[in-house]
Amino acid sequence: MTSVETLPGVIWVTGFSGAGKSTVAAEVWQLLDQSGAKGILLDGDELRDIYGKPYGYERGDRVALGYVNFTLCRYLAAQGCTVVIAAAGMYEEILDWNRAHIPNFIQVYLRVSDTERRERDARTKKVYGEINNLDKLYDEPATADLTIENAGKLSPVEAAEQILDFYRAKAAPAPRAVLPPFWEEHYAQDVPNVPSDLAQSLAESFGPAGRLIEIGCGRGADAAFFAERGWQVVAVDSSDTAISICRAAAAQSSVDFRIGTIADVADEFRGTADLVLCRNVLDALTVAEEAELLRDVRAVLRPGGKLAIECASILDLAHRQGKAIGPGERLQDRYRRFQSETAVRSAIRRAGLEVLSTSHVEVPRGANAPTQVLIRVIAGLPA
Ligand SMILES: C[S@@+](CC[C@H](N)C(=O)[O-])C[C@H]1O[C@@H](n2cnc3c(N)ncnc32)[C@H](O)[C@@H]1O
Repeated sequence: MTSVETLPGVIWVTGFSGAGKSTVAAEVWQLLDQSGAKGILLDGDELRDIYGKPYGYERGDRVALGYVNFTLCRYLAAQGCTVVIAAAGMYEEILDWNRAHIPNFIQVYLRVSDTERRERDARTKKVYGEINNLDKLYDEPATADLTIENAGKLSPVEAAEQILDFYRAKAAPAPRAVLPPFWEEHYAQDVPNVPSDLAQSLAESFGPAGRLIEIGCGRGADAAFFAERGWQVVAVDSSDTAISICRAAAAQSSVDFRIGTIADVADEFRGTADLVLCRNVLDALTVAEEAELLRDVRAVLRPGGKLAIECASILDLAHRQGKAIGPGERLQDRYRRFQSETAVRSAIRRAGLEVLSTSHVEVPRGANAPTQVLIRVIAGLPA
């Protein structure tokens, strides 16, 4: 069975008042806890109290509250947690938003007859007496990922087990967060194309020219720079437009430009690279994608080979721009992730590489724009 630990996401346990949402959600969370997963339990009623009750009980307020709740869920899931939330808020627009914005989201509808719910309510919360049209306040889920008849045949633990089995079967490791059209549109503009400081300092400090693999070569200035100095260069970029521009501009160059990612060339160049260069790419990747990339980097390096990275730092002013979707993750015109030095170092170490040096560098961004603050890391595969 796949471990839920590796499957962050959101399980929304929903239903009308008296359907048993809080009880079942608490059992799901207990099971997660027992399996060693990073589970978080949230409850709609408790969240209302925590927020200080700015939301009323009319439809508009309930929808607004739903967006806040699920934005919070998404933020926590982005930290690798499996979030279980017990909440009513059954509105089509909320469900659509969740499906579009939360990786590994499922809605679980606990269906209980009106009579049964009213009997339960009379023994417990007594909300049906206070609000006449409670059922009409919500849209009964028509497309729930899982519907459980929760009228007494199943125990709360059995319902929770069903939910987790379903989640494990459906959830996938964190999917790609890159917004692909961004780079295609970016390269359609005339962006500057000069060798980076990093490329220049590496070329000076490295011994004889060898094999370089560049990941995310953009318009190819660094790749061409190394090729001119006698390196055998393979440069990959997932943007077709970028690679077409590189090929057209470097018709005479020896650079082997490829459309794709490091995964596409890892087998072909296994154990052969003296240097891997990866500049301004990690910020386009989720934590999970970055881990895959670093595993592939390790695979292509020869023993003693080096990895040179520059990536966006949390000290960069852009880190505070756009919309927060996770710790250090923003949606600006595209997905971006800003990191601390500690986070990059530990990701590199987890991939089996040794961190040789780290520093912060400031790079001009263009006229009147604040400088870009990058983390520069040199790492190596022990010889
Ligand atoms: C900001 S540009 C950096 C270009 C160049 N390395 C530089 O520093 O100027 C990021 C590039 O990474 C590419 N990219 C994003 N994710 C990638 C991936 N997983 N593998 C390869 N290229 C990727 C994009 O298409 C884009 O060209």
